[in-house]
Amino acid sequence: MAELDQSRMPRHIAIILDGNGRWANARGLPRTVGHAQGEPVLFDVIETALDLGVEWLTAYVFSTENWSRSDEEVAFLMEFNKDLLRRRRDDMNGWGVRIRFVGDRDDPRVPDSLRAEIAAAEELTATNTTMHLLFAFNYGSRREIADAARALALEAVAGTIEPGSIDMAEVSGHLYAPDAPDPDLVIRTSGEQRLSNFLMWQAAYSELIFTDVLWPDFSGEVLRDCIAEYQTRTRRFGSAEEA
Ligand code: IPE
Ligand code: IPE
Ligand code: MG
Repeated sequence: MAELDQSRMPRHIAIILDGNGRWANARGLPRTVGHAQGEPVLFDVIETALDLGVEWLTAYVFSTENWSRSDEEVAFLMEFNKDLLRRRRDDMNGWGVRIRFVGDRDDPRVPDSLRAEIAAAEELTATNTTMHLLFAFNYGSRREIADAARALALEAVAGTIEPGSIDMAEVSGHLYAPDAPDPDLVIRTSGEQRLSNFLMWQAAYSELIFTDVLWPDFSGEVLRDCIAEYQTRTRRFGSAEEA
């Protein structure tokens, strides 16, 4: 098991959980079986993150572009996310996890039953402080930045903000989770090496780890390996100094 330096633990880990479809395809199974197989993996990762004292975890579970999948797959994912919340919210609440959804839940394509389940999970866990768990659902980074720009423009028109005072902090403050620290580490599974519209503002200085492991084969153990790799990196933030 990877030896980790507790003093250099990432405070915020964000994960693009990818490769469910390929995992299923390789076994001659429908893609949706791959999604279902990813559920216990996510909870193993959450438990490991809790054990390690990670304060923020973001999981990319549905992008604004994922609506382009088949009706069957989209319907499955909506139902799956609803069931997952219903089955797991009490455990997460017991662990002190605060659940939040970032993205456009008000999209009319999101079933009312899922919207209700999201609200219930958020409300149940609202006062928890052990770990923040953000589900990036119907999330797109370009949309998030455009939404922030629109909100700032409306405030400027309303006269509650001076346009000349709009700076990086104001933009950050209008993102979906303005209280979240930038991710220290972004992990993408399945071998793809791209962000796919995930946290493009927030990940400006994140360490990126791309692993070939498909999401259904990922685990808390592999997460520990990723953190071990993260701990070998030197973060400079533009400076010339060795950290
Ligand atoms: C990630 O797995 C889950 C979602 C995007 C919802 P994929 O479904 O993208 O799996 P691949 O990339 O097709 O293997
Ligand atoms: C990114 O994965 C979105 C999620 C993991 C929810 P995709 O599988 O949708 O990304 P692309 O299409 O390979 O870029
Ligand atoms: Mg994919």
